[in-house]
Amino acid sequence: MARIRTHTNPFNYFERMKPIDFNEKFPNLKHMDCEIGFGRGIFLREWAKSYPERLMLGIEVRKQIVSVLQERCNKDELDNVWLCNGQGLIFLEDALPKKTLSNVFIFHPDPWFKKRHHNRRVVSHELLAVISERLIEDGLLHISTDVSELWDDILLKIEESKLYEPVENEEFWKKDYSSHWSLFSDRDNRSQFYQSFKLKG
Ligand SMILES: C[S@@+](CC[C@H](N)C(=O)[O-])C[C@H]1O[C@@H](n2cnc3c(N)ncnc32)[C@H](O)[C@@H]1O
Repeated sequence: MARIRTHTNPFNYFERMKPIDFNEKFPNLKHMDCEIGFGRGIFLREWAKSYPERLMLGIEVRKQIVSVLQERCNKDELDNVWLCNGQGLIFLEDALPKKTLSNVFIFHPDPWFKKRHHNRRVVSHELLAVISERLIEDGLLHISTDVSELWDDILLKIEESKLYEPVENEEFWKKDYSSHWSLFSDRDNRSQFYQSFKLKG
């Protein structure tokens, strides 16, 4: 399959959201994770299948792929998945209370190569601050990309935030990680950059 980048400007989404009570919606699922920009949802579905006791939230700016993934999840009878068409930052800020997420996943975020579009990159100072408030104390933020320039930018923002420290040899990457774009990188033998981060103590 071809590797085609079709970017949707996240700033097209500005409508604020109402808080959502996930405990009420999913009373039997105590642990919550969230993927921002799930794309085809390959990782999200596998994660939800592997960990049926956990609630997996997915937020994605491209409307059409949200419906496609919802249909696939319904077909698989995955009742631990909740998907939303919207913007990651707005969703986390408005809909989720603080200290609720065990894991946040951001895989192969759109690189937005042009300098004037850098502000559309999903990993921003603002998002890092909001994620740090939504993670539980020992929660983890997992990020990957195969774009070296973007990885440098992500690492710099994380360092500047002073909120996170890297977790070495996190087993997640060997055990659970695989996404539509990571499979492209594997196929094309591209270097991949990935790291898990925990909150600074
Ligand atoms: C290159 S794709 C990667 C998809 C998937 N994570 C993977 O690894 O296969 C990036 C995805 O993030 C979505 N996205 C970009 N900015 C976003 C934002 N601010 N909030 C939610 N989704 C976003 C895009 O629509 C796109 O589907």
